[in-house]
Amino acid sequence: MPQSIDDYISLPIFAETGYVVLAPYDQAQDPQEWLDLEYVDWKSSGDTRFAPLASAYGDMECNGFWHHDPPKTDKDGVWVEANVDRAPQLTARAQEPGANVGRCRVIELKPNEYADSLYNLHIDDNNRLNPEGTGWIVRGFFNLTDNPDSVMILREDKDDPATETRISLPAGAQVIIDTQRLWHAVWHPGDEVRYCLITSWESGPQLDAYINERSPRARVDSPPLPSGLAEQAAQTVAERRAAKQAATGITADVMSEA
Ligand SMILES: [Fe+2]
Repeated sequence: MPQSIDDYISLPIFAETGYVVLAPYDQAQDPQEWLDLEYVDWKSSGDTRFAPLASAYGDMECNGFWHHDPPKTDKDGVWVEANVDRAPQLTARAQEPGANVGRCRVIELKPNEYADSLYNLHIDDNNRLNPEGTGWIVRGFFNLTDNPDSVMILREDKDDPATETRISLPAGAQVIIDTQRLWHAVWHPGDEVRYCLITSWESGPQLDAYINERSPRARVDSPPLPSGLAEQAAQTVAERRAAKQAATGITADVMSEA
């Protein structure tokens, strides 16, 4: 039987859309700690590197917690000392809700096209091994660089553009997403890399209080797409998927660990 959020503690504010946008954070007041971190190559959706702040057992690596020995769900992350020392403020922001933290890392993403992000849409399986009756794991995305023309793309149905929400990513944008429910990827135009703090949190009263103190919005208006881009990108994605399937015999619908 597929895993169901109904068997876990979850927060009502996510029920309708699967995401919540918080009041923006004043990112300009903080040092650019992400430039000091140690990054490791880790293939996610897009051309990325990651700097772990919390990993399964405190090592400088980004693998899913269930791949370790002993395996565990995306909770009880162990802080990676070398990077925590370089980024005390980012660490404090991840700890601020007071909820259990699983994986916590800064992602570095190179620029891409809208079609790339549609092709990269995936859902996470960060509730793998999560014991029923405990809190459902959701993920915070705190944009660090100022990328007002970039958007987090969310879809309830991967192949239905009518279910798409686009959330702008200026510096200080804060979004929490049920990434096991919503297909997601970032469209990041321009010519500079983007940095974002991503944290897995356990749903519960602590996270609920943290969200409610930050003017949460469970639905936001999407900035418009340039005329014709949606159709053009859908065509590109269909062609890429067909080419991949022809080359490998597998479809692109593989669940990501990212
Ligand atoms: Fe993801």
